[in-house]
Amino acid sequence: MKPIFLIGFMGSGKSTLAEALAAATGLEYIDLDTYIECRFHANIRDIFASEGEARFREIERSMLREVSTFENVIIACGGGTPCFFDNMDLMNSRGLTVMLNASHGRLLERLKLGRARRPLIAAMTDDELSHYISEALDQRMPHYSKAAATFNADWLDSRSQIDKSVDQFRRQFLSSEQSA
Ligand code: S3P
Repeated sequence: MKPIFLIGFMGSGKSTLAEALAAATGLEYIDLDTYIECRFHANIRDIFASEGEARFREIERSMLREVSTFENVIIACGGGTPCFFDNMDLMNSRGLTVMLNASHGRLLERLKLGRARRPLIAAMTDDELSHYISEALDQRMPHYSKAAATFNADWLDSRSQIDKSVDQFRRQFLSSEQSA
């Protein structure tokens, strides 16, 4: 099976869904940020701080190239991955891209809790974060909307919601033998 790339804004649930899908199907799961962190022995926050965002985007691009050659894998991208270089074209040429869509309210609630490890938003107040989500989503949507498919990611905040979303995703995007 060609790779499935989950894309979408920070907090849209890419890692949560990818991990749950992998557990349910036996497919491999790769979180691109974690992959980078393992390879470079540094967390994303430190890479941003010591090398800068431009260098992070180059690293992200080369790691994306690497994982996009893998088979039978679900890849949770970073929120910015589709928005740099030809990353979106690369993913579309290698596998199935699925954009996770979550409402502004859901993104805000999730990111308020998960802000610290995300360098782009770590220092923001709640109001700044809310504003940033609106603005950045608008800027990023032209890239995200190149995805081959979309999936509603509003329901990933409890075990039962995740299980239902996994079932829905399998019905929509995985054949019965991939889903076995
Ligand atoms: C980023 C999103 C992060 C991570 C980095 C930059 C972005 O990934 O790659 O902090 O530009 O939106 P998540 O979407 O998994 O938080």
